[in-house]
Amino acid sequence: MYYPIYRPRRLRRTEGFRRMIRETILHIEELIYPIFVTYGRDKREEISAMPGCYRFSIDNITKEVREAAELGIPAIILFGIPDKKDEIGSEAYNPKGVVQEAIRAIKTEIPKIVVITDVCIDEYTSHGHCGVVRDGEIDNDATLELLAQMALSHAQAGADIVAPSDMMDGRVKAIRKVLDEHGFQHTPIMSYAAKYASSFYGPFREAADSIPKFGDRKSYQMDIANSREAMREIRLDIEEGADIIMVKPALPYLDIIWQARQKFDLPIAAYNVSGEYAMIKAAASQGWLDEERVILESLTCIKRAGADLILTYFAKDVARLLRK
Ligand code: PBG
Repeated sequence: MYYPIYRPRRLRRTEGFRRMIRETILHIEELIYPIFVTYGRDKREEISAMPGCYRFSIDNITKEVREAAELGIPAIILFGIPDKKDEIGSEAYNPKGVVQEAIRAIKTEIPKIVVITDVCIDEYTSHGHCGVVRDGEIDNDATLELLAQMALSHAQAGADIVAPSDMMDGRVKAIRKVLDEHGFQHTPIMSYAAKYASSFYGPFREAADSIPKFGDRKSYQMDIANSREAMREIRLDIEEGADIIMVKPALPYLDIIWQARQKFDLPIAAYNVSGEYAMIKAAASQGWLDEERVILESLTCIKRAGADLILTYFAKDVARLLRK
């Protein structure tokens, strides 16, 4: 089929045609909204590198969650910022910790929203690493027990899904085992399976106050240059019992999402991370990009690459745009 018999522009001519042959359509149902919860009362602190995102105290968080639920967003993911940190991140698995209390408040007031929790101790450790530090190194196996306890405390507080983001080897298996032993066989695990040592997490680390005090995360998060290794990481997590797999970040890693889509049949989530958010916000504030269009384009492309679910700080904006 060649020009002039075939003219691809014929079906692009009107919005009616374009709508009929559009291959990828975003839905509100695919969005997961990340929210930061912190100690204290009546807090709503804007994160400077993430305009429009806040750290909420527990008394203010239900309002934010209700707003998301009313927009039709089906799920949130919670990140906690505790008031005290220590070497082993004790607040992470404190049954009365900030996230545990936030889950209880949210599940009481807005029971229908799916509450996912980030399982990782970096926001809770004084050194800011995602694992226990021994002799200047991150001790994998000593961390597993803490992660399992953290996930269990979230499930006991009412979390619907737990999402380990630490990248320790064997964490999915360790978490699955402890959840099952305590009667939480039905709590799904969404694993950050292919999580890269990315510089795009910068604004998040400011938000969560989790910048590592020494070194970096390259001994546990993946090398940005690797893709075959990502498929291995995903396979391992599936074998260990993951129910949903995640690729993170999203936009610079569309090839990874695409490969994972070809190879695996589990639901795939993609994390449109803080740096991806900050770039759009910064450019839009200068009038250099059309914010609404760039948001919709970014998320549509993440979905086109193969993501079933998208974690995004733009969730509320997107829900509003899609409702229009
Ligand atoms: C670790 C965690 C991080 C993010 C989500 N979970 C930070 C990190 O690995 O340094 C980053 C999310 C983002 O940048 O939006 N608890």
